[in-house]
Amino acid sequence: APLHLFWQIDSTNAYLMKRKHLCTNGEACLAEMQTAGRGRRGREWVSPLACHIYLSYFHRLEQGMAAAAGLSLAVGVMLVEALEQAGFDGVGLKWPNDLYLDNKKLAGILVELNGQFGEPAEVVVGCGVNVSMPSGVATAIDQPWQELQFLQEGLIDRSRLASTILRHLDAGLTEFEHSGLAPFVVRWQQRDQFAGRAVKLLVGENTIRGTAAGIDLQGNLLLNIDGEIKAFAAGEISMRAD
Ligand code: BTN
Repeated sequence: APLHLFWQIDSTNAYLMKRKHLCTNGEACLAEMQTAGRGRRGREWVSPLACHIYLSYFHRLEQGMAAAAGLSLAVGVMLVEALEQAGFDGVGLKWPNDLYLDNKKLAGILVELNGQFGEPAEVVVGCGVNVSMPSGVATAIDQPWQELQFLQEGLIDRSRLASTILRHLDAGLTEFEHSGLAPFVVRWQQRDQFAGRAVKLLVGENTIRGTAAGIDLQGNLLLNIDGEIKAFAAGEISMRAD
């Protein structure tokens, strides 16, 4: 499948979303910098030149939108496993799909979907991985972050890492298409950064407190609240350590 490489682009996700009707499975876009990098919840993804990985990947899900529940959690597993294969150990997951290192955010995933119910859905999976943060940029980021360079002294080969990530997305999307989230649940929970920890959920104006207890087959967050397990869907919820 085609690989679109850019020195500078607005957003690799936006690029594939614009081309979505022309795209074939496995088509990908990589850029050295983004001028309008997109984060979740309409936030900006700070994307300085030549220090990180900005990658988007296209896949058409034949079963349609309804089958896409849980996809973003599966992508989290694919990305951690790619990093592990590249020799980076100790990366965890924070629900629904942030990668954590050293208790700080290492990478983010933005899955964008397009389609009518009952028709195949176009999926663009976007991954932003902090590799080596330049000093001037750090202050523009509104949450605690970590970089892969934290785990390794020498220079990190970003091209090689990007190709490892693409291979894991190829295999993982096929697996997800066949079996859904099921084969990813245990792999997600093995890397659950918050399992057994006291957390609070911010749901609109309300705060819900409990102990994180993994995820279910739909990708909902499970919380133990006074001995009872309750499930929470992603969307407008955000989770913090309590
Ligand atoms: C998050 O908020 O955690 C998700 C961040 C996703 C960033 C990546 S960088 C490559 C791709 N293109 C974008 O515009 N966003 C995603």
